[in-house]
Amino acid sequence: MTKTVFVTGGNRGIGFEIVRGFAKAGYKVMMGCRDEDEGNEVKEDIVGGDVHVIEMSLSNEQGIIDALTRATAVYGGIDILVNNAGVLCRDGVEDVSMGDVSSALQVHVQAPLTLIQQVLPGMKERGFGRIINMSSGWGAFAEGMEGPVAYAISKAALNALTLNVANELEEESNITVNSVCPGWVHTRMGGTDAPKSPEEGADTVVWLGTLEDETPNGKFVRERKEIDW
Ligand SMILES: NC(=O)c1ccc[n+]([C@@H]2O[C@H](COP(=O)([O-])OP(=O)(O)OC[C@H]3O[C@@H](n4cnc5c(N)ncnc54)[C@H](OP(=O)(O)O)[C@@H]3O)[C@@H](O)[C@H]2O)c1
Repeated sequence: MTKTVFVTGGNRGIGFEIVRGFAKAGYKVMMGCRDEDEGNEVKEDIVGGDVHVIEMSLSNEQGIIDALTRATAVYGGIDILVNNAGVLCRDGVEDVSMGDVSSALQVHVQAPLTLIQQVLPGMKERGFGRIINMSSGWGAFAEGMEGPVAYAISKAALNALTLNVANELEEESNITVNSVCPGWVHTRMGGTDAPKSPEEGADTVVWLGTLEDETPNGKFVRERKEIDW
């Protein structure tokens, strides 16, 4: 049966290429985005895919739950969840506002957890699930936690969420949770000096989501290889 994918922040950057990659591979894709009109406009660039725009802001829990409930009622349960959306505040320790810290934690940690809570029962029922959290080398202890504070600590917390959920699901057959670092990618967030294209940034996520056997679980993955937390 055709598998269904939900991608947050699917309207641009790496998220858009993740949507395109799964659509090309024959999956049904729900493209989560804040602005439905923008989603419908960019969707036109995906030729022949089974893609549906789902209006969803990640700013509050009930809004996420309501949007997901409406979407799954129409398009069915989610087999692959990609928590891709991200916000980058570049302020340092002395300047960062608690509003920016909250918003990084909401988008990178709380919204992914809310979505995981919503999709897990269906995944358990169907005996299949892939959860992919888009992290960053800036959230890696092994790489020195060098990013700006709100971004770095929230991506580190997202990695902690990945490992924690993977541990809890250890007994569950065929549901995996992994973090991905896309590398430095040319997007609105990554800027124009970045060496990787959005399609290259999306590659590991689509690869992980479409793997049938021997899927990693509870790992941090970059360029299809495990890296240290
Ligand atoms: N680019 C890089 O070099 C790089 C490196 C490491 C990790 N990453 C990670 O990769 C992911 C994608 O990054 P990108 O470079 O593609 O970024 P991007 O082009 O800036 O896109 C960010 C996406 O997140 C969405 N978003 C932000 N806040 C949201 C909210 N409150 N509710 C719903 N959607 C929200 C944006 O929606 P709107 O269009 O509505 O704003 C947009 O679709 C992020 O998690 C990022 O941290 C990127």
